[in-house]
Amino acid sequence: MNKLRSVVRGSGAALPKRIIDNAEMATLVDTSDDWITQRTGIKSRHIAGEGETTGSLATAAARAALAEAKLEPNDIDLIVLATSTPDHTFPATATEVQHELGITHGAAFDVNAVCSGFVYGLSTADKFLRSGDYKRALVIGAETFSRILDWTDRTTCVLFGDGAGALLLEAQPSSGGRNDRGVLSSHLRSDGRYRDKLYVDGGPSTTKTVGHLRMEGREVFRHAVINLAETIQETLRATGYAATDIDWFVPHQANRRIIDATSHKLGIDPARVVLTVDKHGNTSAASIPLALATARGDGRIKDGDLVLIEAMGGGFTWGSALIRW
Ligand code: ACO
Repeated sequence: MNKLRSVVRGSGAALPKRIIDNAEMATLVDTSDDWITQRTGIKSRHIAGEGETTGSLATAAARAALAEAKLEPNDIDLIVLATSTPDHTFPATATEVQHELGITHGAAFDVNAVCSGFVYGLSTADKFLRSGDYKRALVIGAETFSRILDWTDRTTCVLFGDGAGALLLEAQPSSGGRNDRGVLSSHLRSDGRYRDKLYVDGGPSTTKTVGHLRMEGREVFRHAVINLAETIQETLRATGYAATDIDWFVPHQANRRIIDATSHKLGIDPARVVLTVDKHGNTSAASIPLALATARGDGRIKDGDLVLIEAMGGGFTWGSALIRW
C-alpha cells in the first residue's frame, strides 16, 4: 500500500448560454445543416457571450466538480488548466480560477496542447499527485474558440464551440493493481513537423495580435486516425487491457467521422462510445472533460468503470489515458 494513485472524486461541466444550431450557422456563412451534419456530426454548439470567458467557464466547471466530490475549494492544492484561449496572455487562467475559488495555497498553471490539452493536463497532474507533492488537483479543460475563429471562413467556423469541463483528482494509497481505482496509464506524443497544419496566425511575439485559427482539414483528419489508434494501442499495451475491456470510450469530440473511424479500427463497440460532438461541436481541450461530466451525470459512467480517453490537436500533439473511475 505504499503507492499513490490519482483517483477521480468529481467531475463538472459548464457551457455558455447561447446555442447556435446549423440553421443559424447557415445565415452567417455559405453552409448547410446537411453539409455540417454529414462531414462532422455537429448539429449545434454553445458560443460564449459577453462576460462569459475561459476563466468564468472553468471556474463554474471546477465548482461543479467540487460539489460532486463534496469538497471545499481549500481542499485543492493544485490546479492544472488546459487551454489555448486564455483570458490573458498572462497570468495563467489557472490563477484566475484559483482566485475566484478563494484558494491562496498550492500551485496553479496552464497547459497548452490545443485539443490534446486535457490529456496533457491530466497526465501532468497525475504525476504531481503520485509523487506525493500535492494531495488534490483540479484538472480543467476550458476554451472560448469562438474568439479566435475567422467567422468568414466556412471551412473552420462551423466546427468549433465553447465550454469547460473539470475532473477533481485525489492522491490515494493503491496496491498498484490494474483493478484499483485511478489513472492507470497515460501516454503523450507530439511532432512539430506538422505545426503549420492547424495553428493560429497570430501571437504576442510574432504579430502582436491574437490571430485566427487556420487548418488543413484533410491533413488533420488523415493524421488523426493513424495517431489516435497508435496512442490507444500503446495505452492498452501498458495496462494489459484489450479494447473490448473498455466500459466507456470518451474521445476528443472533434468530428464524428474521426471518432467512428478510430473506434472501428480498434474494435470498440459503438454502444460504448460517448458522443457529445453533436451538441457541443469541437471545444478543443474542454471536449473530453465535458463528455466525461455528461456521461457521469446521466449515469453511464459508474464507479469502477474502465474509461479510455484520447485526443489529437495542433502541433501535432496527441495522447491517451486509461482511468479506472
Ligand atoms: N459548408 C459547405 N461547404 C463547405 C464547408 C461548409 N462549412 N466547408 C468546406 N466546404 C466545401 C469546400 O469548399 C469544398 O468545396 P469544393 O469541392 O467546391 O472545393 C468541399 O466542401 C469539400 O471540402 P473539403 O475540405 O475537402 O471537405 P472534407 O470532406 O475534407 O471535410 C472537414 C472537411 C470536415 C474539415 C474534414 O476535413 C475534417 O473533418 N477534418 C478534420 C479536421 C478537424 O476535425 N479538426 C478539428 C481540430 S483537430 C482535432 O481536434 C483532431
